[in-house]
Parts: sequence; structure tokens; C-alpha cells
Amino acid sequence: DTKHNALASEEGESLTSKIPRREGWWRPLFLFQGSWITPQVLNSAMLVQAQFKPRADDIILATYPKSGTTWLKALTFVLANRSRHPVTGNEHPVLTQHPQDLVPFLELPDRALHPVEELEALPSPRLLCTHLPHAFLPSGTSSLGCRIVYLCREPKDVMVSLWHYVNKMRPDFFIQFDRAFELFVQGISFYGPIWDHYLGYWKPSVTEPDRVLFLKYHEMMADPTKHVKMLAEFLGVPFTREEESANVPEEVVKLCSFDHLKGLQVNSVGRSDRIGGLPMDNSSYFRSAKVGDWRNHLTEEMANKLDCVIQEKLKGSGLIF
Ligand code: A3P
Repeated sequence: DTKHNALASEEGESLTSKIPRREGWWRPLFLFQGSWITPQVLNSAMLVQAQFKPRADDIILATYPKSGTTWLKALTFVLANRSRHPVTGNEHPVLTQHPQDLVPFLELPDRALHPVEELEALPSPRLLCTHLPHAFLPSGTSSLGCRIVYLCREPKDVMVSLWHYVNKMRPDFFIQFDRAFELFVQGISFYGPIWDHYLGYWKPSVTEPDRVLFLKYHEMMADPTKHVKMLAEFLGVPFTREEESANVPEEVVKLCSFDHLKGLQVNSVGRSDRIGGLPMDNSSYFRSAKVGDWRNHLTEEMANKLDCVIQEKLKGSGLIF
């Protein structure tokens, strides 16, 4: 632990110099147990590992950043709480709270400000969210059987979305698109390589499908109602026949649709500091939400290059895009 803290404080020069480190994104990334993460996230992951008390009925929403986390948070919150908050109600929390604030993250660079104990106060069953690679999840979560919903997205679209997002994070930071692409293709990006993040959750979803639900953004976009029903089942709150005939699944889709959420005042105006020392526009989680937006940014050569790497890395796993 002392070792890790030395790394995390960025002061352990001799230690950090031995650990692969790459610059380029807005914070240097360190290769820790096969994943590129910031010292702040590492610190937070270790705090969570030490202090978080998993409950068997916890549900963990896991994503690689920019894969649709905001959408998944909104959908699962609405589904899990619909007995308390009717989907078509005028006072639904989704109308007044940013989806990012409806489901808390396990790891947070500013866990000093928001202690892990805060998660204890949440009533069961808890909805929690994480970008951590599967291997970094608190050990008790799998032994207790905590369910996981993993949402992934076509890697080229993730890359494009990530580039837009990181360039909004700080006014004094800018990364050229080509540079971001090269790092991403080498697997060097937050919580990357992306293929290992995907495989880390894909494997348990194959062996334990009742515990790990693996979703793809483009499939959800193509048939959101089907996926909302699937999610409701997985969360243990399937739609009743009455709800189905009252079109509640369709209403959930509408409430959480990109156009609806993006247009709400809470998601389009103002700034919030969610990760500590980094206020972001509330609107920065809603850009274009287009499947295949990579076509507007990547040359054919770049697209082929990333496709080849992804195919090679996922080969034999059964996971395809
Ligand atoms: P784009 O940058 O391609 O538009 P995350 O929530 O993981 O940060 O991912 C953000 C991406 O999800 C952004 O993609 C954003 O526009 C898109 N998104 C946000 N809300 C959405 C929704 N309700 N439905 C579909 N996509 C959404």
C-alpha cells in the first residue's frame, strides 16, 4: 500500500520512474497491472478496495468512458425506481437531476471530499457505477455475486467521443486528433487498453450470464425498447403485463432518450465539479450520440488500423463489433 501511495502521490520519483508512464492525455497515465490509469484513480481504486463494503444485491454499472454511461445511469435509475417514481410523473428526478448524479461512481479522484462511507448511506439495492477494469473491482463484489451491467461501444466511436470530451475538460489543454488516435490504437488511454477493458467484462458475461449483462451501445440504439425490457428483467424488476400494455417500456425509452435528456435545463445549462477540481459543463455529456460518427473524423486508413487491432485483440473471444 505504501508503494501504491507513493505512486499515487506522484512524489515517489524512484518508484514512478520504474513504472511505464505515458504523457499526452490531460494527465500522465501509468501502466498498473496491465491498465493505463492516473495516479488519482489508482489511489481511489485502492481506497475503494480497502473501505467499500459490497452488498449481495448491489448492481454495478460498468463502462469504458464515453460508451454511454450517462444513458445507462438514467435508464437503470428509472427502471429500478419506477414504483417510487412513476415514469411519466411530472416530478421525476430525471427531469431535475443530471443522470451523472443519479448513480454514484465507486471510484472518484476526490474520494477525500466524498468518503467511500457515503455509499453506505444508500438504501439497498444500490446502483453504483464504475469505469474500473474488471480486475480492479473490490474483491467482495464477485464472491458475493453482485450483478454487473456492462455497456460497451464500437471502439472507433469511443475514440472520437473521448477526443471531443477531453478537449472540453480543461481550457488550457488540447490534444491533436491524430495524436489521440495513435495513443488510443496503442491501448494508451484512460483505463485502457480498451480491448482489455471489454474482455475483462466479456469473459464473466459468457460464463455467468445471470450475473453479468453485456450490452452494446449500437444495439441499444437500434432497438432501445427491447433492451429496456432486458435491463428491467436483469435488474429484477421486469415489466408487468399491465405496464407493457400501458407502453411503460416505450415511456422509459422516451424519458431517457438523448434528445429529451439533452434538452432538459439541468443537462444543458451550468457547470458541476463531479470529479474534484475539474468543473465541467453539464452539457458535455451530451454531444451527438450518433452511431458511426467516426466516419466524420477518421480516414479510411485510420479506421482500418483500429479495426485490425481490435479484431486481433478480440480474436477467439466471441466478442465482435
Ligand atoms: P458522443 O460523444 O458520440 O455524442 P458517457 O456517458 O459514457 O460519457 O458517453 C457519452 C456519449 O454518450 C456521448 O457520445 C453522448 O452524446 C452519448 N449519450 C449521452 N446521453 C445519451 C443518451 N441518452 N442516449 C444515447 N447516447 C447518449
